[in-house]
Amino acid sequence: MQSISPLRRLTGQVTVPGDKSISHRSILLASLAEKPVRIRNFLRAEDCLSTLRCMQALGVKADRLADSDLLVEGNGLYGLTEPSTVLDAGNSGTTMRLLAGILAGQPFMSVLTGDASLCQRPMARILAPLSRMGGRVYGREQSRYAPLVFLPGEGLQGLSYHSPVASAQVKSALLLAGLYAGGPTRISEPVLSRDHTELMLETFGVRLERQDAAVTIYPCGKLAAPGEIVVPGDISSAAFWLVAATLIPGSRLVLPNVGVNPTRTGILDMLTGMGARITLANRRYAGREPVADLEVEASRLVAATIGAEILPRLIDEIPVLAVAALFAKGRTIISGAGELRVKETDRLRALVTELGKMGAQVAETADGLVIEGPQPLQFAACDAHADHRIALALAVAALAGKGAVISGAECVAISYPGFFTEVSRIGQLSSQPEES
Ligand code: S3P
Repeated sequence: MQSISPLRRLTGQVTVPGDKSISHRSILLASLAEKPVRIRNFLRAEDCLSTLRCMQALGVKADRLADSDLLVEGNGLYGLTEPSTVLDAGNSGTTMRLLAGILAGQPFMSVLTGDASLCQRPMARILAPLSRMGGRVYGREQSRYAPLVFLPGEGLQGLSYHSPVASAQVKSALLLAGLYAGGPTRISEPVLSRDHTELMLETFGVRLERQDAAVTIYPCGKLAAPGEIVVPGDISSAAFWLVAATLIPGSRLVLPNVGVNPTRTGILDMLTGMGARITLANRRYAGREPVADLEVEASRLVAATIGAEILPRLIDEIPVLAVAALFAKGRTIISGAGELRVKETDRLRALVTELGKMGAQVAETADGLVIEGPQPLQFAACDAHADHRIALALAVAALAGKGAVISGAECVAISYPGFFTEVSRIGQLSSQPEES
């Protein structure tokens, strides 16, 4: 249970934790490299720790060097060993789906499970193409759900596959399986999803060919270790601060070192289009990933239309965008967002229910939301639905509105363990009189 009071102003600097997607991929690929890899600014949150524990159970050595630095010592592409226990992905879809791609290519048996939420999320989207590659991969209810079972087989073949969903998890599972295939694997998707796997595979010396929303991987037998990977700050975590600072009058916040990979910056485009004042400074690269310092100032918003084309670039930011829409003038229409129903919870339904408790009228459609703004919010007792992005979005609504108590808010530990500590720190800082 977390109690949140409204903030009068939000000023200062917030350093957001490392990117979740990139942290997962850095452990997975470092685990398959020949030489040790140092991962800097690794996200020490529950989801990434699930990936880390799974790789340790597969024989990979990993040592924590400093608070957010990790040294991963892989045994090469063919060096994983049969786990003596069931692998547990916890709440993490990325762990389960990406690891499934690797496990499908192993000459040993393994079982991969997760928590109650993860065991209800769709897995046929990865198991079907993996079995077409020759993987002996199975799941509960005709291979629709976890727990998943991987059996040794005859080896994988390359595949040309068009994914019906724009999903980086599906694409990445097949790319990782493609490392073990006898020939090239080509994956195309309706709209390009986040390309962190592609960029990191290239960092590890793997040959890829990319064209629009399609990628082909050429198996190479060996991964070259880059020595070091530096994980940028997570734009999905920054999004909560961007919206909070936009909505709370008089705010001005600096968010240094945030990843601005164009496959993730839909939130910046959308908020700016709605009237947010966000600037990017000091653009640079962390390896192949673009990074910038973000600055945001409070401003008034107008409504927006959010459709399927931009959705993969802001898929995890819809909950906090729905909160922004409550403060924006006009009708915001979100469509093409059916994927939100199969995230950690049904996020569309959870938003309607929980923002409804704050007095907001949010209309639900089959694949989206319709929100008329601006709407006044009231103090409410809400529930996080065991979903970190819902908890964080409700927290922003409470900070910018009339406060709330959120039960189950501990689930922010999945992606942003220090969020509430940061809220208290920045709240105190912001309540001090401004220097003249
Ligand atoms: C992720 C991809 C997205 C996103 C998830 C992380 C990733 O899922 O929602 O939080 O790291 O690849 P989908 O690929 O299923 O859309």
